[in-house]
Amino acid sequence: MQTTHSSWRSRLHSEMALLLSLLCILCLVGPVIGQDMPYEEYMAQIQACPKECRCPPNFPRAVYCDNKDLKSIPKIPPHTWYLYLQNNLIEVLSADAFRNATQLRWLNLNRNKITSEGVEEGVLGTMSHLVHLYMDDNLLSSVPSSLPASLEHLRLSRNRISTIPTGVFIGLEKLSLLDLQGNKLMDDAVTEVSLKGLNNLVQINLAKNQLTSMPLGLPPTTTQLFLDGNSIEKIPASYFKGLPKVAFLRLNHNKLGSSGIPKNVFNVSSILDLQLSHNQLTEVPLIPSGLEHLHLDHNKIKRVIGSNVCPVSVDAIDDSINESVPRLRYLRLDGNEIKPPIPRDVILCFRLLRSIVI
Ligand SMILES: *[C@@H]1O[C@H](CO)[C@@H](O)[C@H](O)[C@H]1NC(C)=O
Ligand SMILES: *[C@@H]1O[C@H](CO)[C@@H](O)[C@H](O)[C@H]1NC(C)=O
Ligand SMILES: *[C@@H]1O[C@H](CO)[C@@H](O)[C@H](O)[C@H]1NC(C)=O
Repeated sequence: MQTTHSSWRSRLHSEMALLLSLLCILCLVGPVIGQDMPYEEYMAQIQACPKECRCPPNFPRAVYCDNKDLKSIPKIPPHTWYLYLQNNLIEVLSADAFRNATQLRWLNLNRNKITSEGVEEGVLGTMSHLVHLYMDDNLLSSVPSSLPASLEHLRLSRNRISTIPTGVFIGLEKLSLLDLQGNKLMDDAVTEVSLKGLNNLVQINLAKNQLTSMPLGLPPTTTQLFLDGNSIEKIPASYFKGLPKVAFLRLNHNKLGSSGIPKNVFNVSSILDLQLSHNQLTEVPLIPSGLEHLHLDHNKIKRVIGSNVCPVSVDAIDDSINESVPRLRYLRLDGNEIKPPIPRDVILCFRLLRSIVI
């Protein structure tokens, strides 16, 4: 009698425990399911979580497999949107691992050992929802082919990319950010042909490559152009005619001398921020009236003459501040051969100047 009773009690206990844990799962899952994920998908997702990874129950579309010394990519659960694989030892981007993961939005593969040969045929193309692809600090030698048309941000900095396969960007109508800094691109790699298709590009970063001239074929939508740390010596006179929206232009650490800068080349009304630090300029270039930030530090400039650098006629400026006053607010001139003080006509010209470093 006693034994039956106690076994009945223990059965009750275990049933209670089961019920409680079920309730507990439900209360955990409840808000998530309510938000954006059907229960069946939620369970399939959690059950398919690879043992090497972390799949937070309250954020079931994210899968964290970063910093695990992984040599290969585990099988990714079917309903993953955000996948973190950075800081591993992955060499191959295998189609098999992604077979069921057709929903990916965000894929972070930074700091791995993926080579161009390791990107299996078509693996990226099947990710038809992918918006962000990060492959910084890998061993790629060319821009990966068959990228999905959904892509908006593509980061490929610090690889060993020397070639951009012809037509690789065709169809990427949504790509707005392309980061190729710290690669091995030479002039003949960045051309109208290789960049064809980037019809909505906003930011392109080609810093720290091996360019000796300004890249050709950039789309007219380009707003931010970063070219620091190349070996560019001159800029063609009408270069920015083809870039009517360029606003942020960085050319720090190049080989630009004043003879390589045609008189009106930077007199482009869209430019807001112009950075020309660490070059070989001997004169302040002509700037547009709307420019707000100008970096000219660490050049070989000897003198700054107001009547030469002021984008409007100094005589025309009186005490009133209206739209015609040059917009310059920040100016760096340190590391040149200029002896202070800054001439009075420079100060008179740039009324809105808040900070000047000399
Ligand atoms: C894909 O999903 C099916 C069914 O859920 C499963 O049997 C299979 O192992 C999965 N494959 C991969 C590569 O994850
Ligand atoms: C700079 O460009 C503006 C507008 O295009 C023009 O009016 C101005 O004359 C140019 N400045 C010089 C010094 O050529
Ligand atoms: C702005 O001020 C300048 C003189 O500083 C003057 O020549 C010009 O007509 C003024 N413009 C407007 C729109 O008030």
